Amino acid sequence: MSFPEDFRLISYLSRLEHAARFPLSSSYPESMSIDTLFELAGKEHRAPFMQTVLDYPPLRGTPELLEAIASTYRHITPQQVISFAGADEAIYASFQMLLEPDDHAVVITPTYQSLESVPLSRGSVTGVALDENNDWALEVEKVRTALRENTKVLAINFPHNPTGALISRQQLTDLVDICRARGIWIFSDEVYRLTEFDPADRLPQVADIYERGISLNVTSKAYGLPGLRIGWVACQDDAWMLKLERMKQYLSICNSMPGEFLTTMALNARAPILERVMARSRSQRAALTEFLARYPHLFRLSVPKAGVLAFPRYLGAEGAEAFATTLVAETGVMVIPSVTYASELTPVSEDFLRIGFGRENLEQSLVEMGKWLDRR
Ligand SMILES: Cc1ncc(COP(=O)(O)O)c(C=O)c1O
Repeated sequence: MSFPEDFRLISYLSRLEHAARFPLSSSYPESMSIDTLFELAGKEHRAPFMQTVLDYPPLRGTPELLEAIASTYRHITPQQVISFAGADEAIYASFQMLLEPDDHAVVITPTYQSLESVPLSRGSVTGVALDENNDWALEVEKVRTALRENTKVLAINFPHNPTGALISRQQLTDLVDICRARGIWIFSDEVYRLTEFDPADRLPQVADIYERGISLNVTSKAYGLPGLRIGWVACQDDAWMLKLERMKQYLSICNSMPGEFLTTMALNARAPILERVMARSRSQRAALTEFLARYPHLFRLSVPKAGVLAFPRYLGAEGAEAFATTLVAETGVMVIPSVTYASELTPVSEDFLRIGFGRENLEQSLVEMGKWLDRR
């Protein structure tokens, strides 16, 4: 594979999202102004923010940021965290440091493309597909079968983009046990953690429960603050974190000081921020589910257990990609066809649509889409 190959989802978004009048394409919830963030976190932070000196922050992050991030884990200390320019930089850096050319990785599909493309650029990769006919369930046994002598890492992403699926705690424990027995790392993309509609579904963070667990997170999803561009990796293994730190020396080196300040503030005041996101997600998931149920001949949905993405199967004769193209051309409502989730590892059906339901525009977009569907 020649790297970098086209990031199909990002290309699709770049081509259409800014021109679409009603984009239902976002993978993140409605964001907020800096003003609102100060209101939620406390106005006493305004003066220190304005006095922040625009130096380079330390490579791993300011002590305050690392402390705030560590406080979101049960056992991770500030010394076991490295911040990055978003989750994407962290994905790139982590797989560069995890995989040598003779190594093998196992990746769950469908997947956010970089979790597959970056490992593929380093070595051989086997995909394990979630079951599209069974609410996107994972069969742990299939993961076990996919492992080879030289498997170095298993990459997982739960809550899952784009289906909102989750595995059970027992399944996560089983994956950790399988990997521990063979010394395999688990790279766990946990960017949708804290968006579970039933908190009982929430999984532990892999860095808390496994000495070779690497947890990825970011401000973009549960916190609804993608513009801060601060992601992070947490891991108990100091030697590996030192390698990861070296990789960052060649990438962003460090984040922006205002981004680190505001992220620290947001994480320290996370309860109202998370609650705000979840209140909207909860009511809008219900609105979208109800909307899709009005057209049972067109859509079949496995209701997402977390996140702000729904991934219904499109049943119309013309197929999901043609549907999405006509829909945006004729109404300005943009949804994303699953062809953008194509994988080199396993077949991914092109019959699905990714619909973001976390943004303020959902209600009006569904009105427009409904009028159009009813006319057809
Ligand atoms: C599963 C997953 N991982 C990582 C990322 C990257 O996050 P960011 O764009 O905030 O770097 C995304 C973004 O959509 C995602 O959905």
